[in-house]
Amino acid sequence: MNTSLLIRGASRIATPVGSCARRGVDLGKLWVEEGAVVRCQDGLIVFLGSEAEHDRRFPSPDKTLDAGGGCVIPGFVDPHAHPVWAGSREDELNRRLAGESYMEIARSGGGINSTVRATRAASASELLEGTLRRLDTFLLYGTTTLEAKSGYGLDLDTEIRMLEVIAAAGERHPVDLVPTCLAAHEIPPEHRDNPEAWVREIVELIHPEVARSGLAEAVDVFCEEGVFDLDQTRRILADAPRYGWKIHLHADELTPLGGAELAVELGALSADHLMCVTEAGMAALASSKTVAVLLPGTSFFLRSGYAPARRMIEAGCAVALATDCNPGSSPTESMPQILALATLGMGLTVEEALTAATLNAAAALGRSGELGSLEEGKRADLVVLNEPTHHHLVYHYGVNPVRHVVKAGRVVVQDGRRVQAR
Ligand code: NIG
Ligand code: FE
Repeated sequence: MNTSLLIRGASRIATPVGSCARRGVDLGKLWVEEGAVVRCQDGLIVFLGSEAEHDRRFPSPDKTLDAGGGCVIPGFVDPHAHPVWAGSREDELNRRLAGESYMEIARSGGGINSTVRATRAASASELLEGTLRRLDTFLLYGTTTLEAKSGYGLDLDTEIRMLEVIAAAGERHPVDLVPTCLAAHEIPPEHRDNPEAWVREIVELIHPEVARSGLAEAVDVFCEEGVFDLDQTRRILADAPRYGWKIHLHADELTPLGGAELAVELGALSADHLMCVTEAGMAALASSKTVAVLLPGTSFFLRSGYAPARRMIEAGCAVALATDCNPGSSPTESMPQILALATLGMGLTVEEALTAATLNAAAALGRSGELGSLEEGKRADLVVLNEPTHHHLVYHYGVNPVRHVVKAGRVVVQDGRRVQAR
């Protein structure tokens, strides 16, 4: 379909530039152009620049979107999320506020396994409905591409059901979903006394079946003390190359286990969380292509301290940001909220945070050649903010800064409301 869209009337465009993750001082370098327009054609960006030049070079567009003096930025890429689940864990909030730890709650029957019980009991259509509702919220807050993990099934049937729900949701919804198999998210209750049997079930039954189904593009493990240790994680991930799966790793979240180093050793696309990353882990990440995906929403919500983001940037790590959206440790779909925490909590500049939430986030999904910045030839996924500069993303905090969202060249959110793309 040959449709063109012109976004005009913007105060400015602010975007990182490039087709791979930015590091060091480059993380904070944006291309900022006052008064520029964007032309989208067949889902791609075909022109960025002055309106006069656009009008000289192109015929009238099929459609026009008035940015109304707002700032145009790339759509957010959220490279770490668990958006499929049933039930709710709001009861854990007051327990944690009263002093119980995340792990104590998990070991007393709450935590991931309580969501597993609810998710196993839910039908595919119930899971799909909840997921689509969350995807609407992601989109309204400017996210156009989202990684989506399984991991609340912890048995073959429910893991496959979750991945099927991710596939169905991705087909129906404008947000692009990138599916990851996270069968190794926790030890289910039926295997609590024999975790090795669960590791074998993942390796010998679940992963081969998921690989056959073609429903996952990557694999992930919660590598953590009391969950999967380094040796188990290595065994769980050993077949990933044979299945053509990329690797993500929940690494050094609650204890400094050496997950970052393992992620680098395995050539993972990303090592995620990293609140407890060691100097050696930072050095390993800095000398690799593995992206350090930081999840300040989890630190905030668990009140557990932020990852050493500034030191990681200075060491030369490629830093990205994600919501970690999940019912236990970060129940939010809002990337603007994550930017607020990344800046005011972890000390990134707004420019660094924007790059980390777009181009570097795309790199964490292996998609920085197609996504994550506003450049000719990249996918036309963009956000028009309510206000004239990107600084308002953080400055005007606690509210939704997003006015319009364009996904693959189509207006899918207009004036803060979902519109059905035609
Ligand atoms: O990324 N760390 C493990 N997994 C999730 C939490 C999932 C949950 O509590 O339901 C995370 O924080
Ligand atoms: Fe997570």
